[in-house]
Amino acid sequence: MVNQGLETRLSSELDSMLERGTLKHLQEIEGRQSAVVELEGYGEVVNLCSNNYLGLCDEPEVMDAIEAGVERYGAGTSSVRFICGTFTIHRELEEALAEFMGTEASVTYTSCWNANEGLFAPLLSEEDVLISDELNHASIIDGIRLCKARRAIYAHMEMDSLREALRAAEDARHRLVVTDGVFSMEGEIAPLPEIRELCDEHDAIMVIDDSHATGVLGETGHGTPEHYGMHGEIDIVTSTLGKALGGMAGGFTASSETVVEYLVQNSRTQLFTNALPPHSACGALAAVRHLEAHPELVAKLRRNTAYFRERLLEMGYRPIEGDTPIVPIIIGDTADAIALSRRLLDHGAFVIGFGFPVVPEGKARIRCQISAGHDTAHLDTALDALRKVGTELGIL
Ligand SMILES: Cc1ncc(COP(=O)(O)O)c(C=O)c1O
Repeated sequence: MVNQGLETRLSSELDSMLERGTLKHLQEIEGRQSAVVELEGYGEVVNLCSNNYLGLCDEPEVMDAIEAGVERYGAGTSSVRFICGTFTIHRELEEALAEFMGTEASVTYTSCWNANEGLFAPLLSEEDVLISDELNHASIIDGIRLCKARRAIYAHMEMDSLREALRAAEDARHRLVVTDGVFSMEGEIAPLPEIRELCDEHDAIMVIDDSHATGVLGETGHGTPEHYGMHGEIDIVTSTLGKALGGMAGGFTASSETVVEYLVQNSRTQLFTNALPPHSACGALAAVRHLEAHPELVAKLRRNTAYFRERLLEMGYRPIEGDTPIVPIIIGDTADAIALSRRLLDHGAFVIGFGFPVVPEGKARIRCQISAGHDTAHLDTALDALRKVGTELGIL
């Protein structure tokens, strides 16, 4: 028991979440993150809710690199980068990530959350305007909250709305436009060519968070810019090492040498928190190299995604349209989405339901995520579960 008043209020809010069916239950995986996982209370289930897009979480080359990293560099840094937390592997990884993104330089963080949170405040101040898509990731929103620049929100992927915001910011010293490359809850791809054009017209800085596209989109997995043939044309790219690139921890910002050096000197989530553990950096570098050597993984992910989406449509589901491996099915009510995901588990498919505040009120959904680690048999098991449960709950 901590403070009595706090305990009472929090317990009552938790009880009410339980009653409304919106309380999240943290499911325990008893083995490795993979296409099929051993789930507490359910045994083996097909996993359709991880960001393990390329199946690299249990890739031997990645795991071996982590082990070798522990051997060479020990458990951790016990320091921020600028004191004594910069190791050889940080430089190697940052060079590789810059090359991967087609930028001059990059700097790693312990997460993409930290990369986004530490990005805007050092670059912009009161004389500037920061313009953000209304559905951008929470880490971008929090990063913006910490920045003193004026703010403008444009309607989700609406270029007229963005144009208007840019026009209204003509008097600013800098204008910065930020968007997710792929929106994590919708699976939609941001219209980068149009955003680039508007940014050029209005001399604005263009920033994307490509966390759900790195290793996923584009012929060779270089992300949303590659998807549009714009590799290297974005001013600043942030992304994660915690999804397709091995699923460990870590994130990074890639940009010009000047921007990166400025962040190294001034970004608070760079200066006041430990550096990325070296063994994670080793694993991430191995994941980048593995992806470069195996572009067929990206092709398999694309094939799996097309197969899954086509079968869903045939069955009568109406997922949000798109080509990304994020396949959301809108259910509406949060409790219904959670109930659906629970029933799917009974049929061997691990799919999570999302409700408010992760998604807007009334737009609760289940989100299926496809991986190159899935075989057709895995996808068929999940599709079979979706058919049975959809019929049982009257969704189909
Ligand atoms: C678009 C986006 N940005 C950033 C993050 C945070 O990434 P990380 O887990 O590396 O902090 C996520 C993760 O959910 C994300 O979806």
